[in-house]
Amino acid sequence: MSASIRPVMCVVGARPNFMKMAPILRAFEAHNPRIPALLVHTGQHYDQAMSDQLFADLRLPPPDINLEVGSGTHAVQTAEIMKRFEPALDEHKPSCVLVVGDVNSTIACSLVASKKRIPVVHVEAGLRSGDRAMPEEINRVLTDQISDRLYTTELSALGNLKREGISEDRVCFAGNVMIDSLLDSRERARAPGLTLAQHGHDPAFVQQPQGYGLVTMHRPSNVDNPQTLALLLRVLDEVVQQLPLVFALHPRTRSNIDKFGLQGHLNAQRTVVLPPQGYLETVGLMDHARLVLTDSGGLQEETTALGVPCLTMRENTERPITVEQGTNTMVGRNPQAILQGVRDILEGRGKAGRVPEYWDGRAAQRIAADLYNWLG
Ligand code: UD1
Repeated sequence: MSASIRPVMCVVGARPNFMKMAPILRAFEAHNPRIPALLVHTGQHYDQAMSDQLFADLRLPPPDINLEVGSGTHAVQTAEIMKRFEPALDEHKPSCVLVVGDVNSTIACSLVASKKRIPVVHVEAGLRSGDRAMPEEINRVLTDQISDRLYTTELSALGNLKREGISEDRVCFAGNVMIDSLLDSRERARAPGLTLAQHGHDPAFVQQPQGYGLVTMHRPSNVDNPQTLALLLRVLDEVVQQLPLVFALHPRTRSNIDKFGLQGHLNAQRTVVLPPQGYLETVGLMDHARLVLTDSGGLQEETTALGVPCLTMRENTERPITVEQGTNTMVGRNPQAILQGVRDILEGRGKAGRVPEYWDGRAAQRIAADLYNWLG
């Protein structure tokens, strides 16, 4: 351990944080001298499928501290994380607190640290959808305002930060740590047939000549309103006429489908419904899909890196490079746009795209090198 640096307290809470943190911890370990780290899991996600399985797949060490906050309203969850995080900070006195992404754990821990004058480091800074109805957008804007060192994944982020008064010398373009994880695990990814078999489905489903589409959907704006959710499920019913679908269901979506009585939509013969998948299963399912239909932020980036066409069921994206350079097309919640997007891809008019700068598997190394100098 470097005698001069106190540990970096690294925070994860929800599913999309884990793939961002895994390469950072490895890069800290490999840095010469080693950068000491403490891993804090807030417990925002706690299920085997949403948390433990991903730790194993990503070779993340078990957390040093687990705050076990669980679910709640945004206010309750954020407040509970803050209350439980403060004593951990007092006890360990880290050199800085490193947060990733835009979930409630990100803003909660940043806020506690900044009030205690402990430097905050934000990885994946500066992304903006411009849509304040998205809880993540509030988390992004506020976390960046109170961060001392900001690492960006794409060049548009710097412009967003400057517009919000954040000085350029706090910002470092390091690249995309989520793609570090993707490239690290692509070889180990599970074949889609095996994933289906594991859940009692016929592996031949994903080996049909026309291929299959992968669907994920969990944004409150898509799944919390019964009319919107019903509309999107009806569109999927039409899509399966053209292409068999594998639908990995987030717990929020699963419970809303049950609550709104929409189960009938998922029984179509050409749809396989799976519970939330591990990381290696998800990478395998994405990599072999004809197309991905999603509202996830991470999948927009991962499909661009894999060169798989992606249709994003949102009105806006905080990751515009996936549209400008990658394979992503925004189709919103418009049934015609979604169906046209699917047709275009199936008829060979999908986007080929290219991999953006610094999405090269070395983003975490760049962060470790920069952070070491910055802390020094
Ligand atoms: C959170 C993130 C979102 C991210 C998503 C990935 C925020 C504001 N949102 O949304 O950006 O894309 O994670 O999954 O932080 N639940 C379980 N098991 C779990 C966790 C949650 O069943 O392990 C259920 C609970 O019913 C809970 C609901 O899912 O109420 C939503 O969980 P929550 O953490 O509040 O937000 P997500 O929708 O998962």
